[in-house]
Amino acid sequence: MKVCVVGTGYVGLTTGVSLAFLGHQVTCVDLDQQKVDMLNGGRCPIYEPGMDDLLAEAAPNLTFTTSYTDAVPGADVVFVAVQTPSAPDGSPDLRYLRSAAESVAQNLDHSFTVVVNKSTVPIGSGNWVDAILRESFAQRAERPAGCEFSVASNPEFLREGNAIHDTLFPDRIVIGSDNPRSLEVLNQLYRPIINQTFTAPSFSPRPDDIGAVPLVSTDLASAELIKYAANAFLALKISYANEIGQLAAKVGADITEVTRGMGLDQRIGSRFLQAGVGWGGSCFGKDTRALIATAAEYNYSMPIVQAAREVNERQRLIAVERLQDELRILKGRKIGLLGIAFKPNTDDLRDSPSLDIANLLLARGARVRLHDPIAGERFRREQPALAPYLSESLDDLFDDCDAVVLVTEWAQYLELDWSKFVGLMRTPILLDGRHVLDADRMARLGYKYLAIAG
Ligand code: UDX
Ligand code: UDX
Repeated sequence: MKVCVVGTGYVGLTTGVSLAFLGHQVTCVDLDQQKVDMLNGGRCPIYEPGMDDLLAEAAPNLTFTTSYTDAVPGADVVFVAVQTPSAPDGSPDLRYLRSAAESVAQNLDHSFTVVVNKSTVPIGSGNWVDAILRESFAQRAERPAGCEFSVASNPEFLREGNAIHDTLFPDRIVIGSDNPRSLEVLNQLYRPIINQTFTAPSFSPRPDDIGAVPLVSTDLASAELIKYAANAFLALKISYANEIGQLAAKVGADITEVTRGMGLDQRIGSRFLQAGVGWGGSCFGKDTRALIATAAEYNYSMPIVQAAREVNERQRLIAVERLQDELRILKGRKIGLLGIAFKPNTDDLRDSPSLDIANLLLARGARVRLHDPIAGERFRREQPALAPYLSESLDDLFDDCDAVVLVTEWAQYLELDWSKFVGLMRTPILLDGRHVLDADRMARLGYKYLAIAG
């Protein structure tokens, strides 16, 4: 099939490259010329494991351009995956989506094109995009005869750092439209994934236990709500573990044991129960806010989702307070933060706990150093106010440090030669922000090991 993808961020790029890998003819359009040049040169603008290799394998079926005219005409499916950042009141800013829809409408010429909302949009946006498409299409001086189109929603569930795996071997595919023909086109597009008929890439092998991938084919509003409901649920699952974690600390329980014991109940499941400094990234914060904002439009409140957000915010503060309890005075103390990305295996800094913790510490007069195995360069570019506090080396970070916080559980940190660094510190306080280090081992090495929760 012929596919166009608008926006080559994490979502758009992964979608485009994966569909090209599966054999579809894909053209990705992005307004950012520099990004397009990089991608046409075979280089990936984001850090995502395996993406360079997939890009190389998919290259014969894949083109990048800044021109909608090169990308939209003839497409059976147009994915729109532009960013939808939060406006100050929490509602998503839909400017980019509007302008993308208008540009798509100006270039539609096919007998039937499905325009798919891949960006996370408020419930009801499918209808809104449909209205924009029809309006812009009607304003065209020349309208190709027999050109039809319809809007669908196809939310993504990929985790950064696992984007390729989550796209090729998903738990489910959700498609929503009020037009049966659109659903049929998307069903065809995803056949290779649904039936798992493609040869898996060597760097992302097919899981042994995967069968046919369930397809949820539903109406537009339901597909849109599934995305929000799923993300908010994952966010609140983590917040619940964090809330229990603080109680565990008070009653003298071990949160890792508690969540292990909970997670073995198959009704609960062990994933997304890891307590620590809490969630960040581009989706959980934005989607929970947007869900609350949508509900407010209907004069409805969502106290559970609201509480998940509050607990998450509190976790970042708790990290700072743990340090303050231990050091008594934060002013003038050197605190090292290990990890800047919001989670391992990505260089994405959006809503990263590390940034908030750094700012809270600076506000209390601490001297902060931050280190990340991959995200340092992006950090310097995107966070100019914090950039002077970047440590290029672990020696620099640990040297004369009063406390170190493990914020992002990069493998490099888990496998660190911790015995080498303890001697560099002024006071060997180690706050494990993710409950991933072996407390006894760290204590044997000479650290004063602290955890966020009990
Ligand atoms: C975005 C949203 O943030 C997320 O909520 C949604 O689920 C999917 O899309 P991501 O792919 O990570 O996530 O976004 P981002 O990295 O910001 O990429 C968007 C891309 O679209 C950028 O490359 C930008 O240059 C491009 N873009 C944006 C256009 O090509 N045209 C536009 O009009 C606007
Ligand atoms: C998420 C969703 O998982 C994905 O389905 C959606 O479409 C986009 O948003 P992503 O933000 O890439 O993906 O990362 P994810 O792996 O979900 O982690 C989100 C945050 O939660 C990270 O900051 C991570 O550190 C944190 N987390 C995750 C925990 O604190 N504990 C856990 O047990 C799991």
